[in-house]
Amino acid sequence: MGGALGALFIKAGHPVMFSSRHPENLKDLAARLGPLAQVGTVEQAVAFGDVVVMVVPYTAIEEIGKAHGRAIATKPLVLDICNPIARRDGDALVKWVNEQGGAGLASAKLLPGAHIVRAFNGISYRRVGDIAHRPGGLVGVPIAGDDPKAIALAEGIIRGIGFEPVPVGGLAMGKHLLPGTPLAEEHTPADIRQIAGGLR
Ligand SMILES: NC(=O)c1ccc[n+]([C@@H]2O[C@H](COP(=O)([O-])OP(=O)(O)OC[C@H]3O[C@@H](n4cnc5c(N)ncnc54)[C@H](OP(=O)(O)O)[C@@H]3O)[C@@H](O)[C@H]2O)c1
Repeated sequence: MGGALGALFIKAGHPVMFSSRHPENLKDLAARLGPLAQVGTVEQAVAFGDVVVMVVPYTAIEEIGKAHGRAIATKPLVLDICNPIARRDGDALVKWVNEQGGAGLASAKLLPGAHIVRAFNGISYRRVGDIAHRPGGLVGVPIAGDDPKAIALAEGIIRGIGFEPVPVGGLAMGKHLLPGTPLAEEHTPADIRQIAGGLR
């Protein structure tokens, strides 16, 4: 998913540094995406830009928060694409996330002080590139966050890559931005507003 979103950011003209625990494995991806794409360590990627896009297994957020949380908290926006998934992350992690009030509030605990906006959580990496800039009406992206400045920044970036951001509420609403839930997959902005209106 990080590769698919990164490709869209690059198409929109943003320089992107891709990272993981094994950045050397990302060199081919970056080479394919052209001169705006770079590869670096997690520390370098966090330092690189104003926006950190977290696209890792949910279990990795804790480790990243412990190692880089301070630097991440200085960024005006952290886009949280991560979902807690039992078959990948384990039942205990999913239980803990639910105890925190869901994926949005749990991410905030793992990344103290970060300006988090959840987005793209329910759209597949297989589809996100194809449905960007959809002719005849942009696909809506429900977003949830507590910080108005971070939300405004996220909205601009999401529009720039060809989607219509639809704020659905604070991070507490992040629990509704998961695969397999009513807001997941591809909806018009109007449909997202209608569905979100019925969620608490
Ligand atoms: N796939 C989708 O369609 C989709 C859609 C929406 C949301 N999501 C969410 O996005 C997240 C990523 O999903 P994915 O399908 O893209 O998974 P993925 O293909 O397994 O990619 C995960 C990436 O995270 C890196 N990573 C793992 N642990 C790390 C750590 N501790 N520090 C830094 N990097 C780390 C991995 O590289 P290394 O192992 O080399 O570190 C890998 O590049 C998940 O939370 C998922 O639920 C996925």
